[in-house]
Amino acid sequence: LNQTLFKNSNEPPVVFHWFPVIGSTVTYGMDPPRFFKENREKYGDVFTFVLLGRKTTVCLGPAGNDFVLNGKIRDVNAEEIYTVLTTPVFGRDVVYDCPNAKLMEQKKFMKIALTTEAFRQYVPIISDEVTSYFKRTADFKGQSGEVSIPPKMAEITIFTASHALQGKAIREQFDESLAALYHDLDMGFSPINFTFHWAPLPWNNRRDHAQRTVAKLYMDTIKRRRANPEIDAQDMMFHLMNSTYKNGVQVPDHEIAHMMIALLMAGQHSSSSTSSWIMLLLASRPDIMEDLYQEQINALGPDLPPLQYEDLAKLPLHGAIIKETLRLHAPIHSIMRAVKQPLHVPGTKFVIPTNHVLMSAPGVSASDPVFFPKPDLWDPHRWLPDSPNAPTLARAQDEEEEEKIDYGYGLVSKGAASPYLPFGAGRHRCIGEQFANVQLQTIVAEVVRLFKFRNVDGSNKVIGTDYASLFSRPLEPAVIHWERREKA
Ligand code: HEM
Repeated sequence: LNQTLFKNSNEPPVVFHWFPVIGSTVTYGMDPPRFFKENREKYGDVFTFVLLGRKTTVCLGPAGNDFVLNGKIRDVNAEEIYTVLTTPVFGRDVVYDCPNAKLMEQKKFMKIALTTEAFRQYVPIISDEVTSYFKRTADFKGQSGEVSIPPKMAEITIFTASHALQGKAIREQFDESLAALYHDLDMGFSPINFTFHWAPLPWNNRRDHAQRTVAKLYMDTIKRRRANPEIDAQDMMFHLMNSTYKNGVQVPDHEIAHMMIALLMAGQHSSSSTSSWIMLLLASRPDIMEDLYQEQINALGPDLPPLQYEDLAKLPLHGAIIKETLRLHAPIHSIMRAVKQPLHVPGTKFVIPTNHVLMSAPGVSASDPVFFPKPDLWDPHRWLPDSPNAPTLARAQDEEEEEKIDYGYGLVSKGAASPYLPFGAGRHRCIGEQFANVQLQTIVAEVVRLFKFRNVDGSNKVIGTDYASLFSRPLEPAVIHWERREKA
């Protein structure tokens, strides 16, 4: 006993649990933010809990966010944790199935297709997809009705993202076979696959078949495009086809195909969950939906001309809607890393041993009253000037003014000691933030032009969160009442 006490004296406190292996899996799994909040009150910003038999140490608050997300490559490692889930879904040799230096180069290639010039083309594409979706979809026929909104936002997300990022030819296939295949790929992302990724279970077989079929479809398209270079548009596939690693090797076709899958999957869950939350929150606050409509009329004129990329900057409340929704409903609530050598947590006496998994949960600081007055209130106006609920720290407001560093995929903030990091930080930071903002703002702007939403019972209630998959999202069904602004 003495020896155990001695050995563990520098380890963080362990959350009390009755059963080994199971540990805190159930209480954490049911509601991770609440689990973090309650245990932070008991144990402080750094504590350990048992998750599926693994000792998991979470570091909370801005300092904890920085410690985990900005961890040095010799100290922490993402691919060892995630590869069992992502490699069967994306395919070999990309993202977490390769050394980190290669991922950094791949992120650089992907980012080249996500420039202002590209976004100018994407906005009209996304606008058209949204308006045509609401015209043709049976659930939106007539003047008003009720609908569970998350499945609709999932469809709008995949149609807009596939059309903008992968081109018209691939988009057309999403009406038929491709959507079903991506659904099968999705099954590979259930948390149960952390344990059973290898098992010959029916959904794993479907996942593997879907991965092969989708990758072949992209590879056939790449071959066709290489044979007919004149049909090339400057889209994501084009940029990847023309990218070369630092060692002189051109990116092979199978890696391009696998990166295309990874991009669509990374964007799909996060954006579709976020747009669903936005629609549900607007239904709970019809007054804010009206503010958005007025903002468009004031900034763009009463005729509401077709949206352009440049218009988005004139709509700060539309931007604030997204920021505020991600503050309270970031789809990625827990980020994990393997520990490569015993890690001292700065400012504490704790040393985290290599058999622990390190975890970051930036959502905890994003709902801390120290940084965000009335933290539980969804108040998009807090991000605009002169709000009484404005974030209390300059850092929470403006990442742009910080010192920058390049991990190999472009400049990002050097420090990550911010309470607000829905897109992560450091070498694994999101490269899709700008695309997600363009996509979400355009979707919101088009929906606001077409509809008024409210809760079915007219209340301000907001539905709870489903934490059962790796990405959190609204519990379903999540039914809202919609009404067309103009006669159909
Ligand atoms: C990484 C959030 C949309 C592509 C990340 C990370 C977060 C995040 C938190 C860091 C993960 C980690 O540290 O382990 C979000 C949110 C989104 C969004 C909240 C939308 C609201 C997108 C989109 C794309 C994308 C649209 C693609 C077009 C990526 C990629 C990475 C990443 C490639 C890098 C993974 C790595 O380096 O390990 N995202 N994301 N994301 N995201 Fe996003």
